[in-house]
Formats: sequence, C-alpha cells, structure tokens
Amino acid sequence: MDEAERIAELRDTLSRFVRAYFVEDQPEVSDAVYDSLMRELVELEARHPELSDPKSPSQRVGGAPRGDFRSVSHEPPLLSLMNAMDQDELRAFDRRIAQAAGDGLAGPAGPYVVEPKIDGLTVVLHYENGRLRLAATRGDGQTGEDVTPNLMAIAAVPKELRQGAPERLEVRGEVYLPVASFEALNQAREAEGRPLFQNPRNAAAGSLRQQDPRVTASRGLGVFCYELRSGATPGRQSEALELLAAWGLPVNPLRWSCRGIEDVIAVTEEFAPRRDSLAYAVDGLVVKLDDLELTRRLGATQKAPRAQIAFKFPADEAATTLLDIEVQVGRTGALTPTAVLSPVRLAGTTVQRASLHNEDLIRQKDIRIGDLVRVRKAGEIIPEVIGIVPGEGHDARPPYAFPTVCPVCGAQALRLEGEAVRRCSNPSCPAKLREWLLHLGSRVALDIDGLGPKTVDILLETGLVHQPEDLFRLTLTDLEGLPRLGAKSAGKLVAALQAARARPLDRLLVALGIPHVGERSAQALAERFGSLDAIASASLGDLAEVVGIGETTATEIERFMMGPVGQRLLRSLAELGFRPEAPARTASGSLDGEVVVFTGRLSRPRSEAQAIARSCGAVVESDITRRTTLVVVGEEAGQKLEKARSLGIRTVSEAEFGAVTGAG
Ligand code: IVH
Repeated sequence: MDEAERIAELRDTLSRFVRAYFVEDQPEVSDAVYDSLMRELVELEARHPELSDPKSPSQRVGGAPRGDFRSVSHEPPLLSLMNAMDQDELRAFDRRIAQAAGDGLAGPAGPYVVEPKIDGLTVVLHYENGRLRLAATRGDGQTGEDVTPNLMAIAAVPKELRQGAPERLEVRGEVYLPVASFEALNQAREAEGRPLFQNPRNAAAGSLRQQDPRVTASRGLGVFCYELRSGATPGRQSEALELLAAWGLPVNPLRWSCRGIEDVIAVTEEFAPRRDSLAYAVDGLVVKLDDLELTRRLGATQKAPRAQIAFKFPADEAATTLLDIEVQVGRTGALTPTAVLSPVRLAGTTVQRASLHNEDLIRQKDIRIGDLVRVRKAGEIIPEVIGIVPGEGHDARPPYAFPTVCPVCGAQALRLEGEAVRRCSNPSCPAKLREWLLHLGSRVALDIDGLGPKTVDILLETGLVHQPEDLFRLTLTDLEGLPRLGAKSAGKLVAALQAARARPLDRLLVALGIPHVGERSAQALAERFGSLDAIASASLGDLAEVVGIGETTATEIERFMMGPVGQRLLRSLAELGFRPEAPARTASGSLDGEVVVFTGRLSRPRSEAQAIARSCGAVVESDITRRTTLVVVGEEAGQKLEKARSLGIRTVSEAEFGAVTGAG
C-alpha cells in the first residue's frame, strides 16, 4: 500500500471511530489506539500537503486551527433581542405590541411567557429523522460555524430524539457552562498560571469551539433549547417548549406564564434576588409574546423580533459590611490591602474577601472598617470593593490608617515616589521570605514538588530556613521527625530539591524573584548571556538592551545582583552545585536534539509549525512522552499542557518558538 492509500484508509477508519465515539457513544477502540492512528495520519498528511483535505478527521478532530470550522448559513438568519433596562421599558414594549397588533387587540397585550436568559452561546441544532445531523454556532446571525462533533460530545445534547419528533427539525438553544464548572475551570487555569475566562459565556464559547471534542466533552457543558425554528408550527411559545421537551430536547423547566406586562414585572422583581442561586449564569429574563402567530405577524426590525424582549438585570453588585482590612506582604514586600466582608452572595458565589486595590483607593473613597461597602465582581472574576454606601455611623468611625510599618516584621514600610504601593523595607522580612520560597518552588521557577505553603511554614517556624539557599542544604535527617511533615514527604522534598539543581538558567532566574523578571524576560536573558556570572557582571546598558528588558527591569536586576542578599545567594548557589545552563539552543536557533510537541491553538497551521520545527532539526511528535523535551503551547491548551507540566517538560509559548526558530 502506498502512502496515499494509507492516508485514505486512515481517514476512513478514524472517521468511523469519531462517529462511534461521539455519535453513538460506543467507542470502538481505546484512546491510545485512536491517538496512535491519528498521529500516523497527521504525519503522513504533513509529508503530503498535496493530499490535504478539510474533511480529513485530522482537520476536524485535533489539529484543526480555530477559524477553520466549516461555515454554515442560517436560513432565516438568527435574530437577536432588544433590551429593556427597566420596568418602564417593559411597559413601552407592551404598548408597542398592542398598537402594532391593531384592532384585534384591545388594551394591553399578552399573555407572555418569561424565560431565564441563559448567559451562554447560541447554537442551532438540525435533526433529520430524529438524529442530530448538524450543529452550528450563531456566528453573525447569517453564517455560523459547524461545531457538530463538539455538540455531539456534550452529554446533555440528545443525539437521537424520541418517537413523534418531526422528520426535519431545527431548534435554537443556548449552550452554557454551569457556574460550578466555570469556577473549577478557572481555578485550574489560575493554578497553571493561564489567563482566566472572563465569564461563563466566554468559558462556554471557549469550551465549545475546541479543536478536540474530547476537551469539549470534559467541560460538563449544558444546553437549553428555547426556539422551534422549523419542523412544526405550534400556536404558542408555551406549547413549543412543551413539544421540544416531549421530543427529548433539554428545555429549561424554569419559566413563567404571565397574563400581562404587570405580571411580567412582578416576575422580574421576584426573580432578581434568586437568580444567583441557580446552577447556571443568567443575565436577564426573556419576555416572549405567547401567541406565535401574532409574533410572526408583527415581524422583526433589522435586528430583533418585535414581540420578544430581553430584560437585563443591573450589574452584579452587592452591599455588605466591611469587617476588617487585612494587609498582606508580598514577595517584593508590597503591602496589599484585602477587605474581609460579612459573607454576601454575588453573581452566583458567596464572597467573603475582596480586593481593596491600594492605599489611595481606601483614602479617596474614605472606606472605614464597619462601613457598608459596595462590592462588585469585576469581569465576574475577582470581587472588588468600589466604595461605600453612605449611611449612619460612618462619621463616627475612625478613618482607616494604612500601616506605615510592615504588619509582619514591624520594619518601616516606605512608599517610593511614583509608586502606588508601599513596601516593607526589611530585606529579611519573614513574610517576604515566605512568599519568595513559595515563588521559588512554583512551576514557573524551580518547580519543587512538595514545597507548598504548609511545608514552607514548617521550615520557617522550625528555623531550618532563614534564607532561600538554606533550602538546598536540607538533609533527610533535618526533615525526618519534623512535626506535621511525614517521612514520605520529607524524602520526596529532599529529592525534589536535588532535582531543582538541574533546572535551566532561565528557570533559576525566575526563581531569584527579581521584580519584573518573569518567564519571558528570563528566557531572553538566559539566551543573551548564557550564565549567571555573565548576567551579574553585565552593565546596566547591556541588560537594558535585551529584548523585553527595559531600564526599570535592568535596574532591578543590577540592584539584586549587587545587593547583599543577591551576592550571598549567587555565591551559595554556586557552592551548592547549581550550574545552570542556558536552554539548549544554538546561536543559529536550531532545535537539534529536541523532541517537540505542539499543543493548543496556534496562529499558523499546525503542519506549518511542525515543518518549521523539523527544519530546525527537531523531531516532532504529537503526544507527550518521557522522550519529549519541549512543548510549544498555543492558546487554550489543555490536557497536554498539564501533562507536560506534570512531567517537568520545558514549555514555550508560540512567540518564543517563533523567536527561537527565526520564524517570528
Ligand atoms: S430567544 C430572536 N430565549 O440571548 C431571538 N434567547 O440577547 C431569540 N438567550 O441571542 C432569542 N436565553 O443567545 C431567547 N430563553 C432564551 C434565551 C435567549 C438566552 C440569548 C440568545 C440571544 C440572546 C439575545
């Protein structure tokens, strides 16, 4: 069999497996077999670009760059909704309907059906002979994207309808990520140092528009159907919802039948305080005239039907009592105020702590302990205090005095000119040391397994560690028998500390905790100078010339390297056997000897990125194994990134990959 034939065969087989897995829920083979065949196909296709085919399973499942989803046109186009921001706008909407309906309708309009407005992503599902045939996103309303395999992967979406469903059926619904899954997903992303999803809608979209439907499947998405686009023409929206449910489609059980607009308004008032207790995010209510015949007759404006409207809830804000202000000391000594609040429900979660930003905000807003404060979820992620609710008692309370000494060590906390933060001036402040140790052990730095907050606290309390280098002098004898640290953990920690000595220069640079020196700048420094000594003796000018390092960072580097703490640390590290090398790259940017895996969404086609890597001498593989030496991480990378991290494999961003290979 020649390679072209093998490609055809693999495409056939893999398409069948995809169908079995996602459509019939009956996987024919294990993931490992599937993955290895897919890898073979991807490799063969990379060798034969002339045989490329957008329908190949390699393009549909895994490997397909985003934006490469097939287009689907919507007929008729998917409209959106007008918004009503308050009760008066709802009444005006009702009057417009009554007027437009003309003689047939005396007085106010109605009845209405009110449904929760799910904060998710619109999808259109096409069923033929009871089977799901096509699923598309809304796109611009005219043209959406074909996300059939992804929808197939969502357990909540029926692949087959019950008896009695029309032969051809098109429904509109909303895919959403339950609030609990959204929070868990963001927590995992935070732990990985990846950007957080702004809101559940955003997270739902990210989860749905995945190249690999298995990622979609793992996110626990839900769906609610709310519009029958074709297949049947019931006279009422309430009936339409019942039919959809009877055919086996998921329909939100929460809905209200209202005789008229005043009933609708009562529902908005009754529901507003309850909306955060639902398992899914709701950003309003949708008010629909129950009479679908009249709805059709009234038609639509450019954008939206005249007989339906979205009632928007006001932004997510709540008021609660400020119980205390806690000031924490960070790694760089910065004093950060946090509000301790009387627990309050806000956008689906209970909030007890919120950001107070900085000293100036507290003064400008005259926030005092005991005040009733307004709390908002910024971008629905981090709650923040935005001000006070003026009221009795405020004047009687003392204004808040921001500490001018470090709350941990008592040293002076100084605010340098032009800086928004005050910092502890004691170079050996225990709070700074604690945060430094945690940073040093984190994945972006030396990745020391077992050096979490609990262990760090034990090491500090027992006086075993006074400065970071003490960590690397710890022996099993020191650790064994320490209260609260098991023998097994002690052994693991010693091994992890030993392994940390072998980390490359850039990771060690991150571990030094120099302000503004993160992963990127550390890599640039490592590449440019090649050793710690060379960086320590570089001039300010040389440092500032490195890509991504400005004068401020250069000054911080120099300050650290020249200062007593840095000097002592560098000397100790050398004595302790740290010989960090710059990441293995030749000056010409070759990837000789690297075994590279790509993951996540890349800005160029994956096959092109792979070809670039090969041309620089790398062996490219599609799965991460112990052989893998480098993982190039695109956007929204998932399980592979986790695996790379758990195996301690070096990861680089696509931009860094571009810089190394000279492919920009
Ligand atoms: S009806 C003609 N019902 O809200 C428009 N929309 O702001 C038909 N949405 O694009 C929409 N829940 O994505 C309708 N129960 C619900 C909804 C709902 C969420 C979304 C939908 C729409 C957007 C309009």
